[in-house]
Amino acid sequence: MKYRNLGKTGIEISEIGFGSWGIGGWGALDDAEAIRALNRALDLGVNFIDTAYAYGDGHSETLIGRVVQGRRDKVVIATKIPPKTMRWPVLPHEALSDTFPKEWIIQCTERSLRKLNTDYVDVQQLHSWTPGYLQQTEWFEALTLLKEQGKVRAFGVSANDWEPYETTDLVKSDMIDTIQVIYNIFEQRPAERLLPAALAHNVGIIVRVPFEEGLLTGKMGPGYQFGKGDWRADWLTPDRLAEAARRVDALKTYLTPDAPTLAALALKFCLSHPAVSTVIPGMRKVANVEANVSASDGKLLSASTLAVLKEHAFAHGWSYPWAQK
Ligand SMILES: NC(=O)c1ccc[n+]([C@@H]2O[C@H](COP(=O)([O-])OP(=O)(O)OC[C@H]3O[C@@H](n4cnc5c(N)ncnc54)[C@H](OP(=O)(O)O)[C@@H]3O)[C@@H](O)[C@H]2O)c1
Repeated sequence: MKYRNLGKTGIEISEIGFGSWGIGGWGALDDAEAIRALNRALDLGVNFIDTAYAYGDGHSETLIGRVVQGRRDKVVIATKIPPKTMRWPVLPHEALSDTFPKEWIIQCTERSLRKLNTDYVDVQQLHSWTPGYLQQTEWFEALTLLKEQGKVRAFGVSANDWEPYETTDLVKSDMIDTIQVIYNIFEQRPAERLLPAALAHNVGIIVRVPFEEGLLTGKMGPGYQFGKGDWRADWLTPDRLAEAARRVDALKTYLTPDAPTLAALALKFCLSHPAVSTVIPGMRKVANVEANVSASDGKLLSASTLAVLKEHAFAHGWSYPWAQK
């Protein structure tokens, strides 16, 4: 496992982090396998775990709290504060007093500390953002207070889904330590403005959804059978599955001994951008943990491969089924 700096925080994190939405939030939950997967990840050198209270009303946090007992200081935990409305994404007209007021930020942080069974989180994140909040700084004051109290080591924002631009000015403001964003072979727009700004301002970039919710692993072709409770069954209509599969098939040309699978190619694509601190594939199974960890081998994609992969960008505009408009 290779490690990188998380922006200016002074915290060193593994290139592959553990995305823990799935273990708490959706599909057929298997806590025993989730705990095995988390333990295996830590044993293989993963030291960064991304979670959120919203992932199963603290269930993901609770499982993580159990796994890190006795080695809390070796693990970097990032969690998130949901908007008080519990609606995603926050829309531009929604006042900060309705979404992220100071007392909500403090209450949610205390609740996550209890769920995680710890007295600090390494990275606290607002679980949505709208650019108008740059001028309404109550969220910043609340997170700064939590930092001063030692309950939070660093803080940032999780950008809205497939929203590559809205957090760029926030990065330039130097108010935050990290941005979490969707960046992958399909969604390459963050490389236009956000990632260069993050490099210039030394803001840590946490890349989420590296597999475009599993599509980029190649395992979800037409007719794919979703498990019970898998929200993607509504999202990936037969037409969408067919279109994505056609595009993913075309990526097989770029498999090499250094990127032998589509999953490895997808992870290495993310890691090949110098602004990226870590990439957090969603993992629930030991086998996926082992496969994903092996992508952190120091062999990044060449400039020529990255140039041809640019041609495979696909900004599909398929928002999550629950996204408010
Ligand atoms: N707004 C936000 O802040 C936000 C939103 C979404 C996600 N996130 C964070 O980002 C993380 C990653 O996103 P995600 O989980 O939604 O999407 P993802 O990482 O793009 O895809 C997850 C899917 O990939 C599959 N997978 C993982 N490793 C694999 C491998 N080696 N081979 C084949 N399939 C593999 C998983 O399989 P299984 O189904 O078998 O587990 C799961 O179906 C989340 O867990 C969460 O921590 C944050």
